Amino acid sequence: MERKVFFAFVLVLNMALVQCDDYWKTSRYEPVKLKTTHLRFYIHDILSGTDPTAVLLARANTTLGGLVPFGTAFAIDDPLTEGPERTSRLIGNGRGMYLSASRGQDLTLVMYMDLGFTSGELNGSSLSVFSRNPIMENDREMAVVGGRGKFRFAQGFVKVKTWFLNMTSGDAILQYTVEVVHP
Ligand SMILES: *[C@@H]1O[C@H](CO)[C@@H](O)[C@H](O)[C@H]1NC(C)=O
Ligand SMILES: *[C@@H]1O[C@H](CO)[C@@H](O)[C@H](O)[C@H]1NC(C)=O
Ligand SMILES: *[C@@H]1O[C@H](CO)[C@@H](O)[C@H](O)[C@H]1NC(C)=O
Repeated sequence: MERKVFFAFVLVLNMALVQCDDYWKTSRYEPVKLKTTHLRFYIHDILSGTDPTAVLLARANTTLGGLVPFGTAFAIDDPLTEGPERTSRLIGNGRGMYLSASRGQDLTLVMYMDLGFTSGELNGSSLSVFSRNPIMENDREMAVVGGRGKFRFAQGFVKVKTWFLNMTSGDAILQYTVEVVHP
């Protein structure tokens, strides 16, 4: 009888311990087959005019010249289109910011950007880009570090090609070729 009471007591104690920790739970990871998704689209980064898609956030107080001197940050809400023309079918937007982060001649932006899709099956899904972007190089690459929706746990890269660049205004149209692996 005493033994039974003892075990009941231990059981209650254990339940109490488990309940203390019920804000978290770890379970075995079950591997799933991964898929590869390829995307190709164009992003429009427009600084000029009355409806810019990129606006100056902050600039370091230096005398450095150029379009995006070291220490300049832009906020972006850039349209993503199927083709390179501004009138081409809108498929999403690239939202976030970029920061000019090179002290040298090798103009480099660091992108903190969410590429969100608004059409078809990918509506509501997005890809997280966090990467340097050496914009003087014609063939460049950025890292995709995650995603949302259909792109949960995504990893991959974006190949970037400059399709159009106006050196005076800074307006640019870029071709993004994406390859991501995800469940
Ligand atoms: C910007 O830098 C100049 C030169 O160093 C200085 O005189 C000026 O006060 C600075 N302006 C601000 C807003 O910090
Ligand atoms: C995309 O999803 C949003 C939010 O769920 C919805 O309002 C919108 O109509 C959808 N667009 C398309 C093209 O399916
Ligand atoms: C480049 O930008 C400047 C300044 O906004 C503008 O005057 C010029 O027409 C643009 N050139 C092209 C080819 O778009």
